[in-house]
This record gives sequence, C-alpha cells and structure tokens, in this order.
Amino acid sequence: MSKIALNDGVALITGAASGIGKETALALAEAGVRAIALADINEQGALEAAQESRRYAKHASYRSLAIKVDIVDEESVQTIVDTTFREFGRIDFSVNSAGMGNISGAITPNLAVDVFNKTVETNIKGTMLCVRAVAKVMADQGPLSYTSRHGTRSLGRGSIINVGSVNSHVAAPGMLSYTTSKHALIGITKSAAIDTLKSHIRVNAVCPSWVDTPMNHASLQRVPQLAQIIKAVSPLQQVATTDEVADYIVFLCSPSASYINGTSLVIDAGATLTAHVSRVT
Ligand SMILES: NC(=O)c1ccc[n+]([C@@H]2O[C@H](COP(=O)([O-])OP(=O)(O)OC[C@H]3O[C@@H](n4cnc5c(N)ncnc54)[C@H](O)[C@@H]3O)[C@@H](O)[C@H]2O)c1
Repeated sequence: MSKIALNDGVALITGAASGIGKETALALAEAGVRAIALADINEQGALEAAQESRRYAKHASYRSLAIKVDIVDEESVQTIVDTTFREFGRIDFSVNSAGMGNISGAITPNLAVDVFNKTVETNIKGTMLCVRAVAKVMADQGPLSYTSRHGTRSLGRGSIINVGSVNSHVAAPGMLSYTTSKHALIGITKSAAIDTLKSHIRVNAVCPSWVDTPMNHASLQRVPQLAQIIKAVSPLQQVATTDEVADYIVFLCSPSASYINGTSLVIDAGATLTAHVSRVT
C-alpha cells in the first residue's frame, strides 16, 4: 500500500515524547521530511523519540532535535519556535499534540476549580501559545509549491494541526474540564485559520476518540469500567492505534490537503454518528 510522501519540509511537534505526538514524528520522518524538532516537557522522552525517528527517516539529510518545552510558559514556547527556525531555517508543519487528559471524573456539581484551571491552562492556553508563535514564523517565510498533473499548485506557507478530541464535539459525564478545553481547541483552530488566510497558512484539527497511548492507559486505570464502555460504544470495539491518527496528520501536511483549512476531522470509527446504536439494533 502506498503512503503519502512529503519529500521535504520541517516539522515542529509538541507532545513528541509520547503517544500521538511521538507517532506523528515517526510517520513524518517516514514520509520524508527534512527535519523535525521534537518538543516535550519530558526531555528524555523527546530525546529517545528523536533518536527513534532517525530509524524511519527517508530524507537523505534528515535531522532530528529534542527540545524541552512547557507549553503553558510563553517564553518556553518562544524558545522552541526560535530554536527550530534557527536550526532548520523554516517551519512547514506544526503539530500541537501536547496536552493533558481528563484527570478527575467529577461531575459538574463536584468539580474542583483547580482541576478546571490546570486543564484549560494546559490545553487551551498552551495550544494558543504554540499556534501564535508558529504562525508568526510561517507568515514571514516564502510559500512552497507543488507540480501536479494540472500545473503548479501553491501549498501556502505552512500547515498547523491541533490535536483535539471527540470531546471537541460531544460531551461525556464527568469530563467538563477536558470537554471545555477541547471545544476551545476548535475555536483556536477556526480563529487562527481565519486570521492567517492572507498568509496562506492552513490550520486544522484532528479529533480522535480513544487512542492507544499512555494517556488512555491512565484513564483505563482510573475508570475501571472504561474498557467495557469502549467495547460497547466503538463500532470497531477497540481504541484507535496511534498511527491511525498520525497518518491523517501526515495527510494534512501534504500537498493533497492544500485546499483544506479550518476544519476538524473526527477519527472515531463512527462512534459519535449517533447515540448508543448498539442499544437499538
Ligand atoms: N489517547 C487518547 O485516547 C486521546 C484521545 C483524544 C485526544 N487525545 C489528545 O491527544 C493529545 C496527545 O495525547 P496522547 O494520548 O498522545 O497522550 P500522551 O500522554 O501519550 O502524550 C502527551 C504528551 O504531552 C506532553 N505534555 C503534557 N503537558 C505538557 C506541557 N505542559 N508542555 C509540554 N509537553 C507536555 C507529555 O509529556 C506527553 O509526552 C492530547 O492533546 C490528548 O488530549 C488523546
């Protein structure tokens, strides 16, 4: 089966030490990008992922770099963006996967304010800071183009992909903080897409349901009935693999997605098509 080839380009990925962010780094390396900056609060994890990405890299002069970042810290975010630009000369693909999951499970009347604050700070402010800083760099760089069957097609100045969730679109009990933060991610995505139209930067979101990552493993530990819920609610009766999400992110970086902007794609095997199908069939 043929995979999408990128053959060039520079990526900056947050949350790259683990899960979806790490898998995206491996997938982008395999697709042929020239360089990737892997940023995470877990520096050692980012370093190991950067090394692993070299095993899959297709570009002849591929380079990878691990950088520590705390996405809620404005200066820290600016540092990873400046470092990526200094080392590699441009940023074509920016994947914002760093984030925190649902940590409490308390329903609305019992919600602790500090849980809410921490979740929205990480997932909303953290993503906003990354999108803002990268968009500035992209707006100042030259556009890329691609020669298709019908001539030259502009690819614009860059592609930003925010990792949302099905909770960007639907609610679930005991998930107010996470659901609110992921709904806001769609607001960030659409607003940034509109604000950067003139610079021809594309900003999109991917919205997976359950994905086989350490974040999901932590939820399975915290909520004993979750495994049963996934089996009942997912039409495929299982979580997504990380590469099922990363492959779509690679597509959004690719020339094939040159006309896609401001959208969010739900990746859930159809789980949110309707409510509780299994109960009526
Ligand atoms: N796993 C799922 O089931 C699932 C489903 C839908 C959406 N998501 C979203 O996907 C994204 C990635 O999650 P994952 O499942 O790969 O989880 P993960 O825990 O495997 O990876 C998250 C990474 O983000 C990093 N991180 C957290 N806070 C950070 C901060 N302040 N600064 C820098 N790095 C930070 C962590 O160190 C970790 O490496 C998250 O935004 C999550 O909400 C996950």
